[in-house]
Amino acid sequence: MRSDIERVLFDQPAIHRRLDEIAAEISKDYRDRELTVIALLNGSLIFMADLLRRVPLPLKLDCLSVASYHGQAQSSGEVILKQVALPDVADRHILILDDILDSGHTLAAIREKLETAKPRSIRICVLLSKKKERVQRVDAEYVGFEIEDEFVVGYGLDFMESYRNLPYVGVLRKELIAQPS
Ligand code: IMP
Ligand code: MG
Repeated sequence: MRSDIERVLFDQPAIHRRLDEIAAEISKDYRDRELTVIALLNGSLIFMADLLRRVPLPLKLDCLSVASYHGQAQSSGEVILKQVALPDVADRHILILDDILDSGHTLAAIREKLETAKPRSIRICVLLSKKKERVQRVDAEYVGFEIEDEFVVGYGLDFMESYRNLPYVGVLRKELIAQPS
């Protein structure tokens, strides 16, 4: 797998150091609030597990299964919710976790869906955010790292469902990404 990676952006110690910082911020911001974390699967799985073990607050955890890519390396713009029932968010403080903020389609759609269930507040936390003009305006209150507009894999992020188990975030070699014709 390593030979498919052009270069490593963040290794495991760097990610864990940053998670210590974000977890401390979240723990402070939500110390008097009833927190419900909603993690978007599959990409946020490893990020979620490492982050939440650093947050010593009582919290509820739910997951939503989301797809927006259909195997391509570009967002299709259509966000498919694979889970029909939404978690119970009414009157709760919601923190959405996702792996990466790219076009913004996914998080904008999820945020809008969850807002209809009248939560007290919604914030977004992502491991990575691409520096680019977003198709959808959406801001994340907690961002692990800002990255350039490159396709990355590892630490939960996939290309066609592979590479999620790499313990670091790296840029995938360009020739491995088939361009849609
Ligand atoms: P958005 O809807 O375009 O913001 O994309 C969000 C989703 O696309 C993420 O949750 C990822 O699953 C996927 N994605 C976007 N950029 C990358 C990338 O560089 N590597 C792997 N997956 C990505
Ligand atoms: Mg993906």
